[in-house]
Amino acid sequence: MKALITAGGHGTRLRPITHTQNKHLIPIANKPILNYALEYVSEAGIKEVGIITNREGEEVKEAYGDGTSFGVKITYIPQEAPLGLAHCVKIAEDFIGNEPFVFYLGDNIIVGGIKRFIDEFYEKKTNCHLVLAKVKDPERFGVPEIKGGRIVRVEEKPKKPKSSYAVTGIYIYDKHIFEAVNAIKPSARGELEISDAHQYLIDHGYKVTYSEITGWWKDTGKPEDLLEANRLVLDNIKAEINGRVDSNSKIVGRVVIEEGAEIINSNIRGPVIIGKGTKIVESYIGPYTSIYNDCLIEHSEIEFSIILERCIVRNQNIRIEGSLLGKDVRIIKSNEKPFVNRFLVGDQSIVEVR
Ligand code: TTP
Repeated sequence: MKALITAGGHGTRLRPITHTQNKHLIPIANKPILNYALEYVSEAGIKEVGIITNREGEEVKEAYGDGTSFGVKITYIPQEAPLGLAHCVKIAEDFIGNEPFVFYLGDNIIVGGIKRFIDEFYEKKTNCHLVLAKVKDPERFGVPEIKGGRIVRVEEKPKKPKSSYAVTGIYIYDKHIFEAVNAIKPSARGELEISDAHQYLIDHGYKVTYSEITGWWKDTGKPEDLLEANRLVLDNIKAEINGRVDSNSKIVGRVVIEEGAEIINSNIRGPVIIGKGTKIVESYIGPYTSIYNDCLIEHSEIEFSIILERCIVRNQNIRIEGSLLGKDVRIIKSNEKPFVNRFLVGDQSIVEVR
């Protein structure tokens, strides 16, 4: 079994963060999103991984190289433009060959890995195994219609969904998927749709089965959604203190403090992760917060937030909550006259002040 992981696409819905960074490298619980996919496939015993990249693919190559650190061998497969998920499969045909493979959308995070789905694929002797999750808003996803334990129809973003399931970003295929992606035509939005490939398999008598999961996250672009993914992952972390905590600080609940981090006269209430080289001084860090490497948080309170590397937050007298700070952001108190708020904010940023 091989794996094919996507790391291309447009990433428009995660602006402004994606103006300067591939969305798959945004850290969730202090780990780039794509690390999760690579860990899941490696845990499942897969050794050969293809990664679909877009024009800015260099960033991804630099981050993962040949895959040695994950115990896998990575082949990068450039996609000239985001022409759809079925197009990703189509251009990977030479890499995959005749083997079954996991197709994993690199911006998905799930709890519990993927090995169990691969086992089911083999047990059910199926051609295509889809992982489904119950959702509140199936009309935003590919939605299956299920009869007698089999999927009999898949509709992309239907107005009237036939079930409350979404097809998640984890699919396991045998070689017949290539017959499907080579036969289907682009949709009205000009993409080769993966739902059309699934429907082709069903219509041509191939067996399409499924597993159900809970604990699945798929971005929809709003900061709240990244915060939700962060919550999902932090809810499963184990406490580990490798940094320095002074005797005046109080650490409660599941808190990870990475090497070289320092907590000084502060109160940390987990689940929280504090990255390498970050300093928390006279501050409160509350549940579901991830602070990445080399930040400085001083005389401030932060809760339910994601802070990327090298941010400085200083002397804030109102708690920062539900926030996502990109790299090198500074939120500081000004002592200069006149007494004003001063912003230097990039395109498509959002600032809510009180
Ligand atoms: P999507 O989230 O559907 O799309 P996107 O990443 O382009 O984001 P947005 O809609 O906000 O602009 O993509 C799902 C995954 O598939 C993600 O990992 C990106 C990847 N992808 C490709 O690699 N190539 C493609 O042609 C498409 C459509 C997506």
